[in-house]
Amino acid sequence: MSDLTTVVHGANELVVGPGDDPLETYGDGALAVVDGEVAAVGPTADVLREYPAENAAEAIDASGRAVVPGFVDPHTHALFAGDRSDEFAAKLRGKSYQDILAEGGGILRTVRAVREADAETLLANLLGHLDTMLANGTTTVEVKSGYGLDTETELRMLDVIEQADRRHPVDVVPTFMGAHAIPQGRDGDDYTDEVVAEQIPAVESQGIAEFCDVFCEEGVFTVEQSRRVLRAGEEAGMTPKVHAEELAHVGGTQLAAELEAASADHLLYATDDDIDALVEAGVTPVLLPGTAFGLGAEYADAEAFLDAGAPVAVATDFNPNCHAHSMGFAMSLSCVEMGMTPADALVAGTRNAALALDRTAGLGTLSAGAPADFAVLDAPTHVHVPYQYGTNVVDTVCKAGETVVEGGDSNVCVTDARSTDMQRGGHHE
Ligand code: NIG
Ligand code: FE
Repeated sequence: MSDLTTVVHGANELVVGPGDDPLETYGDGALAVVDGEVAAVGPTADVLREYPAENAAEAIDASGRAVVPGFVDPHTHALFAGDRSDEFAAKLRGKSYQDILAEGGGILRTVRAVREADAETLLANLLGHLDTMLANGTTTVEVKSGYGLDTETELRMLDVIEQADRRHPVDVVPTFMGAHAIPQGRDGDDYTDEVVAEQIPAVESQGIAEFCDVFCEEGVFTVEQSRRVLRAGEEAGMTPKVHAEELAHVGGTQLAAELEAASADHLLYATDDDIDALVEAGVTPVLLPGTAFGLGAEYADAEAFLDAGAPVAVATDFNPNCHAHSMGFAMSLSCVEMGMTPADALVAGTRNAALALDRTAGLGTLSAGAPADFAVLDAPTHVHVPYQYGTNVVDTVCKAGETVVEGGDSNVCVTDARSTDMQRGGHHE
């Protein structure tokens, strides 16, 4: 029997998803949830006629408030251990990201911490971060491996990512990223051989990773090495993704287009030709303004992507180099620093972000049949998400129609493993 779990009614603004205006919205809007999916959405009077609030297990009066699709964060490195806050301070004094990496810091330092951490600690760390993300309105998040750089640790990371997906209300999408950095003392070609010949077959047998990503960058993996990794990943059933043109222009975007990757991410140095190639190949560009903010770098040219008709997505890139859990913050930067409208930014962090994860069946919208993942804001319109920068405007979060956050409080989440690891930074204490 179908189950009317939740009815939300009287919303000042209910955002369904992209539309002509450029958003499809309802004033005095409502939605009804049956079996975890949006069964009806529209004017309150119409929805309540078919789905009376008194028949629902839960009725939410959203008067004066906005209801938006749950945020989809399509690029994170949210599973890590250790603390790199001192590198933040060093960067403020002028040290570059590449200098830190060349000295064995940065990614390589997190690799040492992750190799030493047991699965229980890693899981507690990730669940804690997912709590914070959920409280900030994120209901689906992609998480990459890539702080193992050896078969055993990469598999451990993917296993923890899968466990977190099972244990936490946030949907976690697993990406294998053995080609995230070249381990200290190794040669790039030799390590690429290892990723292709050892890590990818092991990841295929494990059967968890859905995407394969590579850091195609000056001083990291060349285009040719990246191509080898992504082709092998594809043969092993993983869809390609590329970290492209983050610190310099090396050709990762053209590679993403050639391989028809799900997404090309960062794109700070992408050219007009790169943008055209992505649009032609149907690759979703994922922009990560929090990273540019943290690096003090130029932002990606979002307007050029939008003008070319690309379905621009945004993500947090949450990682020890960019300690930002909040999609709202990424949307604020998208507007203020990249010239996007609040509507562009919302679509980028919901529907287009879902496209970057190959979720084409309604995720990131509240149209009928979509997963009932949504946030009720403590604010009257979606504009307040980017407008109130530095503030979490999310009040209530529903995942598949179940209320998992109330009053902006992540402590109602179901996680039972709580981390005391340094890098949690005391967010939940
Ligand atoms: O997307 N660029 C490579 N990976 C991350 C940074 C990871 C780290 O510094 O730990 C990024 O920015
Ligand atoms: Fe990244």
